[in-house]
Amino acid sequence: MSIQSLASAVLKDTHSTGGTAFPASKLQAPAYIKHARLIEWVASIAALTQPDRIEWSDGSEAEYNRLCAAMVEAGTLKKLNEAKRPNSYLAWSDPSDVARVEDRTYICSAKKEDAGPTNNWVAPAEMRGTLNGLFAGCMRGRTMYVIPFSMGPLGSPIAQIGVELSDSPYVVVNMKMMTRMGRAVYDVLGSDGEFVPCVHTVGKPLAAGEQDVAWPCNPTKYIVHYPETREIWSFGSGYGGNALLGKKCFALRIASTMGRQDVSKNGLGWLAEHMLILGVTSPAGKKYHVAAAFPSACGKTNFAMLIPPAAMAENGKGWQVSTVGDDIAWIKPGADGRLYAINPEAGYFGVAPGTNEQTNFNCMASLNANAIFTNVALTDDGDVWWEGMGPAPAHLIDWQGQDWTPEAGKAGRKAAHPNARFTVSATQNPVLDSEWDNPAGVPIDAFIFGGRRSTTVPLVTEARNWVEGVYMAATMGSETTAAAAGQQGVVRRDPFAMIPFCGYNMSDYFNHWLQLGAQLQKQGAKMPGIYCVNWFRTDENGKFVWPGFGENMRVLKWMLERIEGQAQGVEHVFGVSPRYEDITWSGLDFPASSYAKITSIDAGAWKEEFKLHAELFDKLAYHLPEELKQVKAGLEARLAA
Ligand code: OXD
Ligand code: MN
Repeated sequence: MSIQSLASAVLKDTHSTGGTAFPASKLQAPAYIKHARLIEWVASIAALTQPDRIEWSDGSEAEYNRLCAAMVEAGTLKKLNEAKRPNSYLAWSDPSDVARVEDRTYICSAKKEDAGPTNNWVAPAEMRGTLNGLFAGCMRGRTMYVIPFSMGPLGSPIAQIGVELSDSPYVVVNMKMMTRMGRAVYDVLGSDGEFVPCVHTVGKPLAAGEQDVAWPCNPTKYIVHYPETREIWSFGSGYGGNALLGKKCFALRIASTMGRQDVSKNGLGWLAEHMLILGVTSPAGKKYHVAAAFPSACGKTNFAMLIPPAAMAENGKGWQVSTVGDDIAWIKPGADGRLYAINPEAGYFGVAPGTNEQTNFNCMASLNANAIFTNVALTDDGDVWWEGMGPAPAHLIDWQGQDWTPEAGKAGRKAAHPNARFTVSATQNPVLDSEWDNPAGVPIDAFIFGGRRSTTVPLVTEARNWVEGVYMAATMGSETTAAAAGQQGVVRRDPFAMIPFCGYNMSDYFNHWLQLGAQLQKQGAKMPGIYCVNWFRTDENGKFVWPGFGENMRVLKWMLERIEGQAQGVEHVFGVSPRYEDITWSGLDFPASSYAKITSIDAGAWKEEFKLHAELFDKLAYHLPEELKQVKAGLEARLAA
């Protein structure tokens, strides 16, 4: 459906739900917007949602400062101590609105099979009916912001444009940091450019004279994607990926669909992945790029900003890691057949708890100024604190506005919510890669897939080939974290760390990866290596054995040396892993006995693991690629042998 027919469909529904047209005098689109369809669509959504006024966001500093000041006035934000944390703010959300709501997230494709068994699905017409009811009048008493944004460098051939309509000023200021947001987007759109329409409301209309709350939201929540028409509708939440629609909704769910649909354009299509991208420069000065997928809150930000151990230096020169992206990668085949990745985002929305100067110095440095914190604690001197940042101050105000002392902490009350976040522009990152903004992207040398597994999965394994690598990624499991609402710590299968983010049938997604790989190999392209890692194995006391953080550079080095054909390893059932002597240990006292604990392959545990793979494959039976079934049978035969 075109935006035009979309607008008229919305208008028709508006009439049938009794909405009134939005007065043209209140629309006031700026003269610099030449896109009639866009303006018509905005008018149609305003007619449906009935905001008091419309503000066309221009992305300027002045607008950012004005909105932040208004939110301080309204109690949504607190201005932090200017001397300690310049130009920074703290928001506390409603305690019921603290994470992505996966059970309220829908892929409303025309056919149920196209959403697949891992997504919630409702027929589009039925969902439109529900949403039209909910959205009718939902912005009364509020301002509707028109937020134009580009995912990827503005005007680049691989960037995509979205326009989010939202009644949350918190969304506007976060979108300014997370995307290329503002007036320049309209220059790229011109009079007829394509954009993804994104409609967001906190779902709390205000009656005349009604006092607003600091964090309006609604217990009813819907995060809805229509892949065929490439639309996003979000109702009831003001938090993170539920509300900042450029991130998970667009850059992953809608973009993954686009990448597959574009196969018809060039025979290959492209990939939208839940991956960080980093640059790694060897002591000899050779630069590599790695893309890594981990489920939410598994240390992606730490990996993306890793500081290699100084003791790994050679001839006085150390390894260097730089960040291209911390969460999402759009990956496309280049003219030379190699895969090139861009980070479609422009900022980081990272998990704060656990971050400190020892574990992630670069991240802490990024947060020195110009940051928005959400759901961390407030110190008595107007700064922020969270669990794992360092010693707890004697007194704090916790994320729910209550007095907090270390005694309360000992009794199990958290000062910061476990999914508390920071928002900062990528340009705050001291190790930002010089190519992070390059529209051509960076060539990928290796894909890394990792889950949080206290048992079974070894520290690192190299896939023997593309298809086995796809199998590894497809069968990834991870213990769940606080990034999504629900039970924590149970192992769930999270293929490619994409379970909550794949906008279409997961088996078709596996097939897309397999087809892309097969085509590139047919062209004789240099394929990236595929590696499976697990930093999280624990000992008999439940303690992590592997030190992680910067020490992960040792594993990364082995991978890059493998790619160069320089490093040794030992082949086992699932692929190739380094022996103790294949890892560089300079500066780290990590005994072979500990290494054995995190690399051991327990046949019994793997037999059980394969049962879980079988369960996953049963669930994904529709369109499950034959190649993956064959790999499974082959691996099981090796294990049995
Ligand atoms: C995120 C997530 O916010 O994966 O990046 O939940
Ligand atoms: Mn993520």
